[in-house]
Amino acid sequence: MIGKTIPFDAASIRNDFPILKEEVRGKRLVYLDSAGSAQKPKQVIDAVKHVYEAEYSNVHRGLHYMSEQTSARYEEARLKVARFINAEFEQEIIFTKGTTESINLVANSFGIKNLGPEDEIVLTWAEHHSNIIPWQLLRDQVGCKINVVPVDDDGVIRLEEFERLISKKTKIVAFCHVSNVLGTVLPVKEVTKIAHAHGAVVVIDGAQGVVHMPVDVQDLGVDFYAFGGHKVYGPSGIGVLYGKRDLLNVMPPYQGGGGMINTVTFDKTTWADLPDKFEAGTPPIAQAIGLGAAIDYMNNIGLNKIAEYEVDLLEYATQRLSGIEGLNFIGTAPGKVSVLSFTMDCAHPHDIATIIDQNGVAVRAGHHCAQPLMERFDIPSATRASFGLYNTREDVDILATSLEKVKEIFK
Ligand code: ALA
Repeated sequence: MIGKTIPFDAASIRNDFPILKEEVRGKRLVYLDSAGSAQKPKQVIDAVKHVYEAEYSNVHRGLHYMSEQTSARYEEARLKVARFINAEFEQEIIFTKGTTESINLVANSFGIKNLGPEDEIVLTWAEHHSNIIPWQLLRDQVGCKINVVPVDDDGVIRLEEFERLISKKTKIVAFCHVSNVLGTVLPVKEVTKIAHAHGAVVVIDGAQGVVHMPVDVQDLGVDFYAFGGHKVYGPSGIGVLYGKRDLLNVMPPYQGGGGMINTVTFDKTTWADLPDKFEAGTPPIAQAIGLGAAIDYMNNIGLNKIAEYEVDLLEYATQRLSGIEGLNFIGTAPGKVSVLSFTMDCAHPHDIATIIDQNGVAVRAGHHCAQPLMERFDIPSATRASFGLYNTREDVDILATSLEKVKEIFK
């Protein structure tokens, strides 16, 4: 047990992740970029390998044994995702290639169909570009307006600000469950109630949400929830769009192609039922099955246990880094998750990341695909350490020592 205050067998968890045994520049890999992309346990790697070695074909297209097997595994993965986020129906789970595609799907299908020049979209200043640009593209097509909910100096996004900006004109309220820079957890359930009272639908960018806490889409009441596989210890190239069945049923397809039709003539095509209507072309088959394995992996450990362990680690890291003079946290909201962004008076974030990489420490530095948020905090960029279930206090200690070295270099 490396975590000191709560029972969590981090050592055996680390053992599941082959890459953590790799050395980087002759040093132990201290991987603190899980918010960028998480590493994969061997259970996921093996599941993907098994698909290609023993159970691979296209899905829903063949009458042969292999296609039937692969189709069954692919649909099992959908069921696992549905249970993971407590969707009411498994047809409400659409496989995409990532969070970004999931949000673009809603903007292009629901958005184009339902929004016009009189309508408004509400976003927040804490959004990742993937939850800004699809709406700007929509705005440019339909002429609607975008309103943006502010973030305070601690990185808190207040309910009153949503209340102020959501009106009868609002058709879509789109925001992150968790900010990828601030780690702030947004009040999804409460905002959803406000949005629904005004007749707006709610779209949640859950890319940084599902990995840190159990998510129940029915309890939250949201209309759409998007996330990607690679941040939940699954493969890249697979994403999920959860949408309420009644909404998805009346939305037009996002892309056309094989697998999403009922009948095709040159005069008229009719669409397949959910979820196929939104899965044109050969889907990311092995990736979806790998995502199912990642969900099994997280469930076996326990989502609440993971969340509790990460909070403990965040508290330790916050305390450890607070001792470094000239280090300024970006995002100190109460109840935040294990994402620690900061600047240092002595060095540029890119220099910090490059220097500590020499010590085997992997962090992300830059604008984090959240340029408006950088503007809000009046910084060009930040350094971000993000923790996953395989990180330990030892990782935090190495990070802290490496940052002290940065100070030494720039003294
Ligand atoms: N969205 C990912 C991040 O925050 C890539 O780093």
